[in-house]
Amino acid sequence: MKLLVRASGPLRGKVRVPGDKSIGHRAVLFASLARGRCVVRGLSGGEDNLATLAAMRAMGVGVQVDGNDAVIDGVGLRGLSMPSGVVDCGNSGTTMRLFAGLLSAQRFGTRLVGDASLTRRPMGRVVGPLRARGAHIAGSDRDGRPAPDLEACYPPLSVAPLVEGESLLGIEYDMPVASAQVKSCLLLSGLYAAGPTTLREPVLSRDHTERMLLSLGVPLRTMGSVVHLDPEGIDGVRWDGGWDPFTWEVPGDPSSAAFLLAAALMVPGSELTVEGVGVNPTRTGFFDLLRMLGTPAEVEPKPEAAGGEPRADLHMRHARVRGGLAGGELIVRMIDEVPVLCALATCAKGVVEVRDAAELRVKESDRIATMGAVLRAFGAPCEELEDGMKVEGGAKLRAATVQSHGDHRIAMSAALLGLVAEGETVVEDADCIATSFPTFVPLLRSLGADLEEVP
Ligand code: S3P
Repeated sequence: MKLLVRASGPLRGKVRVPGDKSIGHRAVLFASLARGRCVVRGLSGGEDNLATLAAMRAMGVGVQVDGNDAVIDGVGLRGLSMPSGVVDCGNSGTTMRLFAGLLSAQRFGTRLVGDASLTRRPMGRVVGPLRARGAHIAGSDRDGRPAPDLEACYPPLSVAPLVEGESLLGIEYDMPVASAQVKSCLLLSGLYAAGPTTLREPVLSRDHTERMLLSLGVPLRTMGSVVHLDPEGIDGVRWDGGWDPFTWEVPGDPSSAAFLLAAALMVPGSELTVEGVGVNPTRTGFFDLLRMLGTPAEVEPKPEAAGGEPRADLHMRHARVRGGLAGGELIVRMIDEVPVLCALATCAKGVVEVRDAAELRVKESDRIATMGAVLRAFGAPCEELEDGMKVEGGAKLRAATVQSHGDHRIAMSAALLGLVAEGETVVEDADCIATSFPTFVPLLRSLGADLEEVP
């Protein structure tokens, strides 16, 4: 499918975005491991979350999906069964890295595979610490042969079972990069370990796993960017090794809301509200940056969602953002929003500079390179940096035909540029938008944007 986009607007209205992808993965995982029937409402409907649901189904978990809601018959921490084939994680790095931790602790073997994009993403960052705690896990090199070392370790991942009497060990680990996927992988495996898990991140990454585990009564403590989990129990309270069923509602995805907020800023005359968005502080870097850059961003807090996740309505109207620098700890809190920030920066009064974002090079695509190519195609002056990008705002944009490189956030960022460029923009290979934001096109159309999907 490709997307045709024409200059249009203003964008006006009140909308909801699909449920948070990160929270959705974790809610499905923890529901599957609960002792009985759980309900998870407001899932994204995106393909990444569907990959996690399908993987759980393949391991014997009863899953019934009705629209964006799922009824999940949890089997308990020790109740998963061996899948009959490979576990296909599709495009989802979160599915692969979280399952790598969960499956390393099982008494059956598995093989985790992904699509072409996922197969290029580094897995040494989970394989290394999992092996250090006694897991029998191995990755592959670029040609699919057994990986010679952790530097050249990619999917597929093979996980051999723990034998009778063997269990994972406790671990104390200083994580070289802030990563919620690595942290969650190690916390999941830590639920089954014979000793405690202590993780130190350079900067606190999204903490959904910690919040959910705490709300489920798992013995876990956090202090800044340090997390400690002890399956034996904490503070003299023993843990019974599981949790009861629950009903959770997933808040709207702030990473999807970011596209609408940016579109409102870019298209003259726009004014919109995105309702029920998750505003966990480890995720609000983009919104915080918008405020620092002088935009009229407003937050109206709403009752907290289950799993300890704060929620709010976000309002935005058209304004010209100032130039400025985004770097340091802020980047960790907005890592998935850098492509849309680059698109927005083309309308800024000045230069927007992104630094400390080298992680972008190992996302669904090398987002520094792919976003650089998109910006240049629209005639936006930009400079790719090793760890970020400089974009000069204010140039007149001309419509372009651009490639998504199979990356949902690149496709949606390009579509936004099409809303303010002169002529008709074509975003090729735009099916990937369904990874996280399947309602992106109808939602933007309902707000007044002129874009359509063409098979
Ligand atoms: C995610 C963590 C982030 C983020 C990804 C989702 C998660 O990746 O970019 O889209 O759900 O844990 P890292 O953990 O690799 O930083």
